[in-house]
Amino acid sequence: MKIAVIGGTGLIGSQVVKILNAGGHEAVPHSPSTGLDLISGKGLTEAMAGADVVVNLTNSPTFDEASPAFFQTTMENMLAAAKAADVGHAVILSIVGADQVPDLVYYRAKVLQEDLLKAGPVPYSIVRATQFFEFVDAAMSWTSDETTVRLPATLVQPMASADVAQAVADVAAGAPLGGTRNVAGPEVFPLDELGRITLAARGDQRTVVTDDSAGLFAAASGNALIAGSDAVIFKTTYREFLAR
Ligand SMILES: NC(=O)c1ccc[n+]([C@@H]2O[C@H](COP(=O)([O-])OP(=O)(O)OC[C@H]3O[C@@H](n4cnc5c(N)ncnc54)[C@H](OP(=O)(O)O)[C@@H]3O)[C@@H](O)[C@H]2O)c1
Repeated sequence: MKIAVIGGTGLIGSQVVKILNAGGHEAVPHSPSTGLDLISGKGLTEAMAGADVVVNLTNSPTFDEASPAFFQTTMENMLAAAKAADVGHAVILSIVGADQVPDLVYYRAKVLQEDLLKAGPVPYSIVRATQFFEFVDAAMSWTSDETTVRLPATLVQPMASADVAQAVADVAAGAPLGGTRNVAGPEVFPLDELGRITLAARGDQRTVVTDDSAGLFAAASGNALIAGSDAVIFKTTYREFLAR
């Protein structure tokens, strides 16, 4: 199949392109660096021409109040172009529990992205993944100084970006789900504990201080970010990831 991967140069997108092409598909990466801008629509008509499937793995440049407008404009442009080109399947990557954290504007933006896809004119699939292992460093950097990393004890069930990419590629190569596939990692950690494991593995002498008001993930409580019993659980553990 010919598969247009918008955001195909990003962390997940680049891996999805490789997996699909290795599986005999013709996956083409698109992004501003290849001449496609999903905000303005530049390059979109050309990207959709002849595509059987479009996969949207773009991300908003910021996680703040600007993120809903990013996902709204990009989804509206993508769906209009996909419909015009008669693309038979549109896939997006969202976040497990996105609807459970209403105080986080970025998660509200992801729910908006899902709702636009569900209400749109193209048969669709949503993959909801938990936090990527690669995202732990970013979460730590928001609330770090030279001696201390402040993290909330929010429960997370992180997974390898390679496993996320496999899940997205599997869905993109299949028939539209008309629904959502949840995917997650094999272990649940409090985020502060994950920070301690990360620093110890790197010989980083900083101390993790538990602070339930620190960073974006402070807005999630209880099991909001933990996958339900319907989720596909991938095998790669965080310690295996750190050891690589
Ligand atoms: N982080 C997590 O733990 C997590 C968990 C679950 C789901 N997700 C979702 O996973 C998705 C992919 O995340 P990621 O980390 O792979 O993102 P990423 O590495 O930041 O890559 C984003 C991609 O979007 C492209 N892009 C940005 N603006 C664009 C525009 N206006 N038009 C076309 N393409 C544009 C970028 O192109 P350039 O490289 O040219 O800028 C890049 O290819 C996101 O939607 C995110 O919400 C994330």
